[in-house]
Amino acid sequence: MKNANRRFSASVVIFFSLAAAIHVVFADNYVPSEQFLLNCGESSIVDDTDSRSWSPDIGSKYLLSAKSSTSKAATQDPAVPEAPYMTARVSLSEFSYSFPVVPGRKFVRLHFYSNSYNGLNANDALFSVSSGSYTLLRNFSAAQTSEALTYAYILKEFLIPVDGETLNIKFTPSANAPNAYAFVNGIEVMSMPDIYKSDDGTLMLLGQKSPIDIDNTIALENVYRLNVAGKDISPSGDSGLFRSWYTDQPYTYGARSGILMTIDTSTTMNITYPADMPTYIAPVDVYSTARSMGPSPQINQNYNLTWIFSIDSGFCYLVRLHFCEFRADITEINQIAFDIFLNNQTAQSGADVVGWTKHNGVPMYKDFAVLVPGGGSQEDLWLALHPDLSSKPEYYDAILNGVEIFKLSNANGNLAGPNPIPVLDDERVSE
Ligand SMILES: *[C@@H]1O[C@H](CO)[C@@H](O)[C@H](O)[C@H]1NC(C)=O
Ligand SMILES: *[C@@H]1O[C@H](CO)[C@@H](O)[C@H](O)[C@H]1NC(C)=O
Ligand SMILES: *[C@@H]1O[C@H](CO)[C@@H](O)[C@H](O)[C@H]1NC(C)=O
Ligand SMILES: *[C@@H]1O[C@H](CO)[C@@H](O)[C@H](O)[C@H]1NC(C)=O
Repeated sequence: MKNANRRFSASVVIFFSLAAAIHVVFADNYVPSEQFLLNCGESSIVDDTDSRSWSPDIGSKYLLSAKSSTSKAATQDPAVPEAPYMTARVSLSEFSYSFPVVPGRKFVRLHFYSNSYNGLNANDALFSVSSGSYTLLRNFSAAQTSEALTYAYILKEFLIPVDGETLNIKFTPSANAPNAYAFVNGIEVMSMPDIYKSDDGTLMLLGQKSPIDIDNTIALENVYRLNVAGKDISPSGDSGLFRSWYTDQPYTYGARSGILMTIDTSTTMNITYPADMPTYIAPVDVYSTARSMGPSPQINQNYNLTWIFSIDSGFCYLVRLHFCEFRADITEINQIAFDIFLNNQTAQSGADVVGWTKHNGVPMYKDFAVLVPGGGSQEDLWLALHPDLSSKPEYYDAILNGVEIFKLSNANGNLAGPNPIPVLDDERVSE
């Protein structure tokens, strides 16, 4: 008992000094006013590897009573964290959750670990998920998605506008598959600053004459969030929005993928956010690394720094590019100017990061919207950078620090696409 008390007071001291340090360093990080972390199929509070505390959904007032059961995953892949993935809520019929919130846009993150629950076949888990009037997933197969993307577990992030006092999330097994059931391992609902909105008519749809509004009728799904030239950033490493950022390496394309740069804060400079840009737009770690084209003007003239993203056709996408020029010798306008292409169309010509920010070490971002026509099949979204020779810049180069790509809900409020098709093993070998 005595020992336990001592340990308790020690951890209180550590907690307070940590909290003070965090407060000083990240003064304008976002602090959520609403945050629900539900560990589905669990009966007690469990902390995850990122020190976030997950509440059990067994006995939770947010789970609406329905015929559903709970189960542990039959096996554990060592790459899969215990919370929230090792237990699930499972049902052959519809079940739902309802969270009390204030009106506004919310993050909804759904966590899935494809496995056998209650002895059911993982391939029979086929279901839809909706929230209010939005369809988030339809005939979703976590098994097929995990196999196709070679992910041990799946995190789906949605940004849902709520105009009433509740946010509901409904899981419905597919009607046309005989043994279909629905499951979910974890649900996060969080308030957020509406930093991805665009309702002033300034965001033009690429190649079209009309602007696109991302207002409170549009739901979004984050499909990529990359820390270019950097490392993965876990939710607690984000600037208060608990987003996950991943390295961009798997998405670079072509024989040349540029060079990786990291800011040198001991001798060169520190990142300084402009007064009108809160740090929660993206954390310092995103702006502290960048990919550039390399030192040779001849080589850079002859290639595009390119990334390729697999996406569902038939939707509009918001592409947010994050930039920060932190090289000590790049301080003036037109030292570097480059063109930005999205799906082979010019999204921006003469991009000049220092010209825009006036100083180096200053973060900024630019939004683009692109329509990918089609009937839902998976296609590639190309992002390419090339020096803008027509501006006659001092250096033939281009940089990028971060990328976020969001799918926008269509006129029917739908965000769902087909399950990705796994690559056959012999195709993988010949690649
Ligand atoms: C549902 O998904 C499964 C697995 O990908 C697929 O075999 C089936 O054809 C799909 N059903 C519909 C109606 O799309
Ligand atoms: C950047 O900030 C750190 C911590 O405040 C400081 O030690 C360092 O000297 C700064 N670097 C420059 C170049 O100002
Ligand atoms: C863009 O150009 C590349 C290379 O020429 C081509 O392979 C790709 O299909 C094009 N993408 C689109 C969306 O037009
Ligand atoms: C870079 O991409 C653009 C748009 O697809 C294309 O027009 C141009 O030819 C490419 N440049 C090189 C050097 O590959």
